[in-house]
Amino acid sequence: MHDPAQSPVHAQGDAPADEEVDPAAWSGVHRGPLRAGEWVRLLDGKGRRHNLCLEPGKRFFSNRGHLDHDELVGREEGFTVTSSAGGEYLVFRPLLSEFVVSMPRGAAVVYPKDAAQIVAMADIFPGAHVIEAGAGSGALTCSLLRAVGPFGRVTSYERREEFADVARRNVAQFFGGPAGETHPAWTLHVGDLAEELAGSGQRCDRMILDMLAPWECLDVAADALRPGGIVCAYVATTTQLSKFVETVRVHGGFTEPQAWESLVRDWHVEGLAVRPGHKMIGHTAFLVTARRMAPGERAPLKKRRPAPGAYGPDYDGPRPPGVPVETGVETGAETEE
Ligand SMILES: C[S@@+](CC[C@H](N)C(=O)[O-])C[C@H]1O[C@@H](n2cnc3c(N)ncnc32)[C@H](O)[C@@H]1O
Repeated sequence: MHDPAQSPVHAQGDAPADEEVDPAAWSGVHRGPLRAGEWVRLLDGKGRRHNLCLEPGKRFFSNRGHLDHDELVGREEGFTVTSSAGGEYLVFRPLLSEFVVSMPRGAAVVYPKDAAQIVAMADIFPGAHVIEAGAGSGALTCSLLRAVGPFGRVTSYERREEFADVARRNVAQFFGGPAGETHPAWTLHVGDLAEELAGSGQRCDRMILDMLAPWECLDVAADALRPGGIVCAYVATTTQLSKFVETVRVHGGFTEPQAWESLVRDWHVEGLAVRPGHKMIGHTAFLVTARRMAPGERAPLKKRRPAPGAYGPDYDGPRPPGVPVETGVETGAETEE
């Protein structure tokens, strides 16, 4: 388990000697024999998962009898154990993608498929300073901390104290140890991002907004982001998506926003039966990214005319510069591409 006394916090760019860094403190990955105080994941023959924190003298009970935790402690992960009534369980430490979907939640979490997209498409790199809000349950925070590595920084904002507590506990559980230590590259502020960040003088490389109204934070994001930096919003509904994208366009200090979602489908592969799985992770949320222009520089306006009716009389959102209010019905000639 991570011992903070063994893992000094380093200023950015201040490379520590290898032996100074306890890898568990930065990655959440623990190696070697299982120890008391660590979490393990038991998988039974029917695919049911059980997460347990190993405690000396404690027993795990299921409908297939019991297992003593002491039987697991001291063994290298990746083995099977048999319970008192013959149940077989596969034992591993949980992966980050497994941990975030089973950990306690306050707010809804960013799912691993989306966290992966955020890390890749928002270009989270070792050494980056990433600001995120809201921290919610801390799921995305864990992926960001992993991606920025020992010389980076993640600064999270969460306006609800009770959610901040959940995030603190989850991050500490994944990266830290039983004494409640958390990740040394992480700072969590309880408060509203727009209020806390304004005038703070903080600069960052990436800003991730997972909240109900990310457009309300766009001005502070623009002030904090370095030129070339990326703002990334994660929103659940099409109305949020539209409002955020149009607000970015109206702001003018960002490149044309890119919007997408990811759908992940498992495949069943067994002999000649090779087909898509029956269930898939469909819609979770939409992602939007845009890059920050240099100070005083404006993004070029889109060359293409908007689709007919896109900003018609029913549209009441932010109106990008150069887009007139459409009043009448378009002619056939106007509606052709
Ligand atoms: C969907 S949750 C975030 C989940 C989190 N990304 C995770 O993966 O666990 C949204 C959170 O944003 C917080 N929030 C909303 N607006 C905020 C703001 N302006 N500043 C800080 N936190 C905010 C909410 O309290 C809520 O906890």
